[in-house]
Amino acid sequence: MRELKILIVLIVFTLITYYGIEPFAHKEMNPHVAPANFNYEQEDIDLANVRIEEAKKALSTSEEKLKYLEEKGASDKEIEEQQKVLDSAQKDLDVAESRLASYEELWANVKNIKDLQGDADVGSESFSLACASCHGLKSQGFEAPFDDALSSESYGVAVPDLSSAGAIYDKDFLAALILSPAHALKLDHKFNDEEQPFPMTQFFGLGDDLNQEVADIIAYLQSVAPQDTNGKDVFQGACLRCHDLKYDELYRTTEKTALEGYMGSNPPDLSIIIRARNAEYLENFINDPQKNMPGTAMPRVGLNKESQDKLISYLEQIGDSKKDERTTLGFFMIGFFIILAILAYLWKNAVWKELH
Ligand code: HEC
Ligand code: HEC
Repeated sequence: MRELKILIVLIVFTLITYYGIEPFAHKEMNPHVAPANFNYEQEDIDLANVRIEEAKKALSTSEEKLKYLEEKGASDKEIEEQQKVLDSAQKDLDVAESRLASYEELWANVKNIKDLQGDADVGSESFSLACASCHGLKSQGFEAPFDDALSSESYGVAVPDLSSAGAIYDKDFLAALILSPAHALKLDHKFNDEEQPFPMTQFFGLGDDLNQEVADIIAYLQSVAPQDTNGKDVFQGACLRCHDLKYDELYRTTEKTALEGYMGSNPPDLSIIIRARNAEYLENFINDPQKNMPGTAMPRVGLNKESQDKLISYLEQIGDSKKDERTTLGFFMIGFFIILAILAYLWKNAVWKELH
């Protein structure tokens, strides 16, 4: 019976590891964030509020610590150090509050565009004037004025072709992007108008009603976009300017050193990202990278839900195409070991019987 007891102990510890420790470690390593929200207005305002709450908490902790040090009669140096911590916490709170204000303003402007009926024909002309100086639209026969190498050199990033943009991006996100690119992409912590302007310029209008012009450009992009985009199209439209996907022989369009200079870090190859992270993590991360990785250079690309779902299944198919096979094989292996254990047990009994 000793063997049975050992087996039971082994099973209990395996179950504790599998259902207890592993999920716990996973949760600790990937801190909980609010689930993906494709209402980008709400997403931005909610996250800005979360950051304000965090900043307030940090400020009150450092205030308490300063008070404690003063009461305790700590040295001037210690008090001075703590005062510095407190000043910087106050500054963080100011930044968080001004960020909320700027997102509220941006999305209030988008509200004025939301319900306008765009005219694709007018939008086509506006696109030529306002966007075609940087972007190509290959499906309509328009090449970008710069090729990827020259564009990498001038902007730090290859300007994406917009053939599928009308299908893959959320409509309200597009309006926000055209009005205020760095804000919509959530890169305002990296780029600002004075020191480091964002390479995609803000659209100030062509002389008529700005809101109507934005609605027209979006209507045009939607009218020329293909009806049936797949996950690979989404990847090529929204990710390929920065990320490789070597398992499907896709190589990023931006030149490597230019991109490192532009982003400050090297975007990873996404071939097996689905296994390094999981689908749920990707869902939240792509929807709003700042939520999981505050301060990251990866832009919020603003996909609509349908396109993001297609993209994640595509990454799953590329990076983990043997998942089903693995699961089936797993069951076979378990069966194999059970049979092996029974045989070994019977064999052991047979051997010991003779010896006794
Ligand atoms: C001065 C050049 C320039 C102009 C003009 C310009 N863009 Fe861009 N655009 C860029 C660059 C550069 C990027 C890539 C930025 C990055 O990845 O950080 C970009 C990215 C984009 C993206 C992809 C955003 C995402 O979520 O991934 C869209 C869509 C877009 N532009 C639409 C437009 C539209 C519509 C216009 C016209 C109203 C326009 N752009 C005008 C340079 C420009
Ligand atoms: C303008 C460049 C750019 C674009 C476009 C871009 N990314 Fe990224 N991405 C980055 C950078 C830079 C990092 C590294 C972030 C860091 O370490 O802070 C990154 C990191 C990632 C990661 C790793 C996150 C982690 O937890 O390690 C994933 C996943 C990812 N990107 C997915 C995507 C997907 C999917 C798309 C297209 C929908 C996309 N990215 C578009 C620049 C980009």
